[in-house]
Amino acid sequence: MTYVVTEDCIACKHMDCVEVCPVDCFYEGENFLVIHPDECIDCGVCEPECPVEAIIPDVDGPDLDFWIELNRKYAEVWPNIIVKGTPPDNAKEMEGVPNKYRDLFSEKPGDGS
Ligand code: SF4
Ligand code: F3S
Repeated sequence: MTYVVTEDCIACKHMDCVEVCPVDCFYEGENFLVIHPDECIDCGVCEPECPVEAIIPDVDGPDLDFWIELNRKYAEVWPNIIVKGTPPDNAKEMEGVPNKYRDLFSEKPGDGS
């Protein structure tokens, strides 16, 4: 089992999640974070920290497969992040926007702050 960052994080990227992770298994993209599924110890501490409820345990449904694989893929190439950075200026406006993956997802790495 692992916890997974899902679509609602895209373009919101609040980063409250990173500071509570006991094993530092968050990785940073330009406008999204991922959890490395092999490093996550399933403690669940990050789940309630996310203001947009983007972090979900992987037991919540088969449609999470896409997001688990996306988390795995980018955790291998994006930099580790252990300190909360500055969220986007428009993070609040981006909450709940539909089709974020299709329209907004960036493959670019974050700066690993
Ligand atoms: Fe880190 Fe625990 Fe969240 Fe996994 S569930 S990403 S170990 S805080
Ligand atoms: Fe994203 Fe929520 Fe963390 S918006 S960066 S999963 S606190």
